[in-house]
Amino acid sequence: MPPSDPFRPWSVAMSDALYSEDGFFLRHRPAQHFRTSVTASPLFAGAVRRLAGLVDASLGHPDPFDVVDVGAGGGELLSALPDVPARWRLTGVELGPDPGGAGLRWLGSVPPLEGLLLANEWLDDVPLDVLFDERVVQVQADGTERLGGPASAEAVQWSKRWWPQGRRVEVGLTRDRAWAAAVAQVRRGLAVAVDYGHVLGDRTTYGDRRPTLTGYRDGRQVRPAPDGSCDLTAHVALDSCAAAVGGHLVRQREALAALGVHASAPPPSLSVADPRAYLTQVQAASQAAELLERRGLGGFGWLLRAVGTAYPPGLGPRAGT
Ligand SMILES: C[S@@+](CC[C@H](N)C(=O)[O-])C[C@H]1O[C@@H](n2cnc3c(N)ncnc32)[C@H](O)[C@@H]1O
Repeated sequence: MPPSDPFRPWSVAMSDALYSEDGFFLRHRPAQHFRTSVTASPLFAGAVRRLAGLVDASLGHPDPFDVVDVGAGGGELLSALPDVPARWRLTGVELGPDPGGAGLRWLGSVPPLEGLLLANEWLDDVPLDVLFDERVVQVQADGTERLGGPASAEAVQWSKRWWPQGRRVEVGLTRDRAWAAAVAQVRRGLAVAVDYGHVLGDRTTYGDRRPTLTGYRDGRQVRPAPDGSCDLTAHVALDSCAAAVGGHLVRQREALAALGVHASAPPPSLSVADPRAYLTQVQAASQAAELLERRGLGGFGWLLRAVGTAYPPGLGPRAGT
């Protein structure tokens, strides 16, 4: 039965539209609607495999060694990991259906783990509230908004700390908490969330002139209507999420470079000596360029938090991050 008042806070409307029984992600695989680093190139899975290998070694090769992918979609990342040792336990955490068949453990919540926790483009899909002048913005299924009552004290407090310049604020508290709860499941190892987002300096510059809450359907950006017909997403307040777990932020172009992803073209002489190898290397270089592009995927944030072990080389905290 529809609720008598069709207007609800964005967090409630988004949660229903995406994750209720007939919600968008229960009926659609993410890969049908948008490209992520995972679906853009197998080089990403190769880099995650190298990262997992480094974490495995730093933990002394435990049995099992966990690789847990939160917001695993159709299990594309886990299925694409090359050369997985038998000792590794691969787990997809998803609200959407188990794709089956790939030998993956499939769970609805993050289990305790020793190993690598990964979440690619999960946090931007965690429902959030929107405020305007410290009042809750409400929305109905077609995307029409109205102003509701005063925001909670904690939402106002978050806004003052993390989005002080805006009248319209996308409150990152739910993402901070979701990430903190996931990281709390890591007994020993490394947690990595990869997502698009902003930091305080960006928010201070653009204030409320650039709200990021939007919709995606069939590869196209659409008006955000919480009616179950599209993905609903908003940029992640990366610095706030990092602070929530005592972690730090590295940009994807730096993280992938540290893991051996480079966009160098092969020497022209190879096109004569070995045309097939030349073409393969050209293709890899162009895929790497997409993953590393500063204004695209390369500008995504990697939120890193090591638990009971060292950060892999090139991925540790540095001054100013
Ligand atoms: C944008 S898709 C990313 C898919 C995949 N990681 C990739 O990079 O291609 C986000 C996924 O997160 C899932 N998700 C959202 N909240 C979740 C939660 N609390 N637990 C598990 N999965 C969740 C959604 O169902 C959706 O499949």
